[in-house]
Amino acid sequence: MEKTILSYDDLLEMLDDYLREPKEFWEGFYEDKTKDIPFFKVTGPDENLMEYFDKGLKPKKVLELGCGPGRNAIFMAKNGCEVDALDISENAISWAKERANEEGINVNFHCTSLFDFEIKSHSYDFVYDCGLFHHLAPHRRLTYIEMLKKALDKDGHFAIVCFNTDGAIDTPDWEVYRQKSLNRGLGYTEKRFKEVFENDFTIKDFRTMKKVSQPNEKFGEDFLWTSLMQVNN
Ligand SMILES: C[S@@+](CC[C@H](N)C(=O)[O-])C[C@H]1O[C@@H](n2cnc3c(N)ncnc32)[C@H](O)[C@@H]1O
Repeated sequence: MEKTILSYDDLLEMLDDYLREPKEFWEGFYEDKTKDIPFFKVTGPDENLMEYFDKGLKPKKVLELGCGPGRNAIFMAKNGCEVDALDISENAISWAKERANEEGINVNFHCTSLFDFEIKSHSYDFVYDCGLFHHLAPHRRLTYIEMLKKALDKDGHFAIVCFNTDGAIDTPDWEVYRQKSLNRGLGYTEKRFKEVFENDFTIKDFRTMKKVSQPNEKFGEDFLWTSLMQVNN
């Protein structure tokens, strides 16, 4: 529907229209669970997330963005966290619920886009995203960061796993709209990654994810960055 641009939301919607519709794409992505996708076969958490917990991060209330089949949400719930885990795909959420039920673990799963999720201000002490952010269009990053700042309490931590330039092409922002494509996700250079987050967060840890050979209790691929940050007050 083409409407007059009267608000910033209208502008964002217009720009969304240049790119693929995320819900349709992700429902299709999860239709075949036997596909050769690195994180489909692994039920354990990210190696960096395990490391944060081993080193003493002990969040009480967690929001996970783009939880997919629930590996990380289930790990955090097993470690005593109350977890709200959201994903835009119904197929992903029902897979995650199946896994959590099999393990007898309670996670509050929500099937919604992160941009439609009602957040109570400053109600989480940890927000985690493995693999969603690099699929966001550049014009959605600002709302993403506003959402993180709204969700986190004043000492809250945010951690993220996202493509480095071995994981995906470093397509410049303006080129995304010229090509009308995210090229299957944006590959972030260290510079671009830090430019995006450094105004609002203090980066406590930033490194390449460690590759973990499977089968293993944890997940890791070296075409991804991992980072732990604390929101600036
Ligand atoms: C690469 S997958 C990662 C899944 C999971 N975090 C994991 O590592 O096992 C990215 C996930 O983000 C979800 N996603 C993409 N855009 C989203 C949005 N706007 N709101 C909520 N979830 C979204 C997709 O459905 C998908 O499950």
